[in-house]
Amino acid sequence: MDQSQAESTEQLRLEIQQLKQQLREAQQMTALGELMSTTTHEFNNVLMTILNYAKLGLRHTDDATRTKALNKILGAGQRAERITNSVLGLARNRSNDPEPTNLAEMVEESLVLLERELTKYRIAVEKQFTTDKPAQVIGNQIQQVLLNLVTNARQAMPNGGMVLIRISEDTVAGTIDLMVRDTGTGIPAEALPKIFDRFYSTKQGPDASGKGGTGVGLSACRDIVHEHGGKIKVESEVGKGTAFTLKLPACTKEQLAPASAKPIVTLGIPTSSPNAASA
Ligand SMILES: Nc1ncnc2c1ncn2[C@@H]1O[C@H](COP(=O)(O)OP(=O)(O)OP(=O)(O)O)[C@@H](O)[C@H]1O
Ligand SMILES: [Mg+2]
Repeated sequence: MDQSQAESTEQLRLEIQQLKQQLREAQQMTALGELMSTTTHEFNNVLMTILNYAKLGLRHTDDATRTKALNKILGAGQRAERITNSVLGLARNRSNDPEPTNLAEMVEESLVLLERELTKYRIAVEKQFTTDKPAQVIGNQIQQVLLNLVTNARQAMPNGGMVLIRISEDTVAGTIDLMVRDTGTGIPAEALPKIFDRFYSTKQGPDASGKGGTGVGLSACRDIVHEHGGKIKVESEVGKGTAFTLKLPACTKEQLAPASAKPIVTLGIPTSSPNAASA
């Protein structure tokens, strides 16, 4: 390769890197946009509760009814507070450096935003948090991965079902594992190697909630997890369901002490059957 060839290869490499970055930013904006519309609906519900109980309290002068109305208003107000905190957290947390992150808190914040949608599609959520050890990650990026995975899970269960979100520690690999398991359609073995490919989708465009169908969700998840030095694994059985597991670097003692930041570790985690793939 002569020098000019080398230069144009380098130029192309830089352009690809820039385009990838732009795609990532566009995806984040889309995710935020989707959250905004979900949040607006949520807020409307909360407002209706507040207005209705305020009217009830004004109509009835007895203490019992007024106390009940005020309690309802307080509950709705607290829910509104949780919703804004989640959205603000997502918008504010633009740090590009991994930091000790409590995944359970991140899951709870994300579920506040998805609650309404999951209820609408008759999907129950089960949580198993077996560790509170923090992961060394960029919180809002992992939140984006989680939102993608839960949306996929929801879309795989058109007749309702269950999502299990589990956080556990793998002390051998030194990872905190975040699993999202659904009771949906499952993925055929021949499709598994393709699901992380950019633009691979089996969906016919956006669903009734305006989500899905471009095939960028999982490829973005994979990129994000790899940039963290982690792994994303999938196990699926047709007719039974699918489980995605993120293996994310656990926080080391030094990372927990703020003065001594250290680079994140790169992990190599084996995959397992049946119908398993990892990227
Ligand atoms: N939990 C799941 N259950 C069944 N199939 C899944 C699941 N998650 C992903 N898939 C399959 O993998 C494909 C790719 O998923 P991906 O999230 O990348 O794209 P998408 O959901 O189709 O579109 P997008 O996420 O860009 O809106 C899906 O179209 C679907 O066929
Ligand atoms: Mg998707």
